[in-house]
Amino acid sequence: MNQMGKMLVVVVALLAGVSAWAMTDKQRAEVESRIAPAGQVCLQGDSSCGAIVAAAGGAAKSGEEVYTSSCQGCHAVGAGGAPKLGDVADWAARTEKGLDAVYANAINGFNNIGMMPAKGLCMSCSDDEVIAAVDYMIENSK
Ligand code: HEC
Repeated sequence: MNQMGKMLVVVVALLAGVSAWAMTDKQRAEVESRIAPAGQVCLQGDSSCGAIVAAAGGAAKSGEEVYTSSCQGCHAVGAGGAPKLGDVADWAARTEKGLDAVYANAINGFNNIGMMPAKGLCMSCSDDEVIAAVDYMIENSK
């Protein structure tokens, strides 16, 4: 390839890069919602998450969806003493005091043996969505 050809390649590559970069937020949200799998993982503070939820009809997230996006980081591995999904004994000991207390601990957060942050840090989650995630974990830990 001669010098001119190489330059052309560089220019084309640059243009492609710039046009991808120049997408508006709206276009980006549209693309993201098209490529988003069901049960999309929303990062905290990512404003496009709202758009995706809205695009999906604004329905409440299922317990499994909330668990996958907000809880499994700690509850799949037991980080900091979190009761693991599937740990029958640990969950039984926690639900003994009554489900309402368990729900309240998930919504408000608590720190007994380790730090359970309020709503598992899913500040965009409604109380009901957090409760659904708790139910999901309990259901799968029997
Ligand atoms: C940063 C890590 C972390 C995240 C994220 C997290 N948890 Fe926890 N969770 C913990 C820890 C640690 C405990 C145990 C706290 C203790 O016993 O002192 C816990 C305990 C709990 C309990 C037991 C409550 C009880 O009464 O014993 C529930 C229910 C719970 N988490 C729900 C959730 C839900 C629902 C989510 C997601 C929306 C979530 N957690 C996300 C760390 C986390």
